[in-house]
Amino acid sequence: MEVMDAMSRRRSCRAYLPQQILNEKRDEILKAANAAPVGMGEYQNVRLSVIQSAALLEKLDRCGAAFLGDPSLRPTYGAPTVILVSVSRDSKQDAAYCNAACIVENMHLAATDLGLGSVYLLGCIRALQQDAALQRELKIPEAFFPASALAVGYCAETGHMRALTTDKIKTDYLR
Ligand SMILES: Cc1cc2nc3c(=O)[nH]c(=O)nc-3n(C[C@H](O)[C@H](O)[C@H](O)COP(=O)(O)O)c2cc1C
Repeated sequence: MEVMDAMSRRRSCRAYLPQQILNEKRDEILKAANAAPVGMGEYQNVRLSVIQSAALLEKLDRCGAAFLGDPSLRPTYGAPTVILVSVSRDSKQDAAYCNAACIVENMHLAATDLGLGSVYLLGCIRALQQDAALQRELKIPEAFFPASALAVGYCAETGHMRALTTDKIKTDYLR
């Protein structure tokens, strides 16, 4: 799939089938993460956690739901895999989130290319930032903090290709 084609198919999936993604697909997504640009090439300032434990995903959901004030919420939408991007506490705050976003978007497009659904997660990651015990359970080193994540799985919603346009984001042309 060409990049522009993947972009027109990419959408946020918020309902997943329970079946786990194949390890081959997981590894392709991780290759996309590793191909992402990172400020100053400081790849040592970012880390990935592939979370596929149902118990840990439930803890992440509960943490996010409590933070958002509604215990009925499931902020990871039942996705069987969440790939968490953590960044070094030493990185400059703006670069930290930029790096995480580049990595997540590369994975989001790769997941689309592989026929998988995915969605960028920030809400429940903000919750995780307040929960040191869960960060330890997720084996995030103390020198890092969780910045963003991608939920991935087989999408239970039907999506369609969207036309790529130039009018969604207001743009000034300076000639
Ligand atoms: C920085 C960022 C944070 C986001 N956080 C969440 C989130 O926590 N939960 C969620 O369901 N979607 C989240 N999204 C997805 C956006 O809501 C979604 O991309 C946007 O509404 C456009 O829809 P589309 O992805 O289907 O094109 C996030 C997207 C970005 C870029």
